[in-house]
Amino acid sequence: MSIEIAAAFSLDDLAVFDETRLRELIANVSGAVPPALAGRAFATDQPDRKALLADLAERIERALAPDARAAFALSRQQTVTAGERASAQSTMLDLLFWELTYWKTPDEYERLIAGEQVHMGALDFARVDGAVALDAGAGAGRVTLPLARRAHTVYAMDPAPPLLRLLECKLTSTGLRNVHLLRGAFRRVPLPDDSVDAVVSCSAFGPQEARGGQCGLDEFLRVTRPGGRIVIMWPEDPAWFVGHGFQYTTLPGHLSYTFPTLEDAWEIATRFYGAAAIQRLEATHRPELPFHALGVREPRDLCWLTVRK
Ligand SMILES: C[S@@+](CC[C@H](N)C(=O)[O-])C[C@H]1O[C@@H](n2cnc3c(N)ncnc32)[C@H](O)[C@@H]1O
Repeated sequence: MSIEIAAAFSLDDLAVFDETRLRELIANVSGAVPPALAGRAFATDQPDRKALLADLAERIERALAPDARAAFALSRQQTVTAGERASAQSTMLDLLFWELTYWKTPDEYERLIAGEQVHMGALDFARVDGAVALDAGAGAGRVTLPLARRAHTVYAMDPAPPLLRLLECKLTSTGLRNVHLLRGAFRRVPLPDDSVDAVVSCSAFGPQEARGGQCGLDEFLRVTRPGGRIVIMWPEDPAWFVGHGFQYTTLPGHLSYTFPTLEDAWEIATRFYGAAAIQRLEATHRPELPFHALGVREPRDLCWLTVRK
């Protein structure tokens, strides 16, 4: 049986990002969309949507940092074939898939992570009881809520307003009043030096510059008091953190994606995980997906560091 995965987003959807985020997402840093590639994606007007794409391309161009703006503008002016443009668009949309999901379809993202349980034993390593903690890349608060139940104060920082709005609703309905929402990113944490006892980041921070990198780690070190802890939950590249003085630990147990119904699992797998996940559901007829079947480590490992200054 052949499985078709529908394209989730189109180029027009980039209009959802604000200027600050466009500047971060299309930049000459590792993990971001290369500006020349973005320029090729917008290189030739498509007659039926000319005005929108031209307006959007100009908005993007204005938002970019000077070096990125020059590369974007140059590449936009060059003649490309329809195939080259389509390929640039497809690569760019792939690179931005998760960001577009957070900004454009946050409810879909919520449905995905509702089935994706992360081991909260990591919070013990962050020593969060009674502490002031930063949840960096907090999203819609999968970690923020358990953290807020244990900490004195939590700063939940994220660049995506739609996810912060979801988190705000959850805080209202749970009555938790010790969480402050912050718009920010790893490389620009809007907190003073030595202002938190713990930084926690789950499935968000990574070595690439667009996901924090060295500059983001320096920000975490800056805002954490001496003796405080930085805990990276479910790290993508544990070796990088170990190379930066972190310890790596895997908590015991077993975790898998578990969805309320098979239909839910099917829909979410189709949108986010593609053929391997769908085949697995067809084989088992159970609303559960083991992480290993998707080639992903179970979310029960962490990298942690005690801050010394
Ligand atoms: C996979 S989600 C994880 C969200 C949350 N920590 C959780 O476990 O549910 C990744 C989050 O990182 C945020 N993010 C992406 N790039 C970021 C950056 N440069 N600085 C801070 N947060 C970022 C996204 O907006 C998104 O909320």
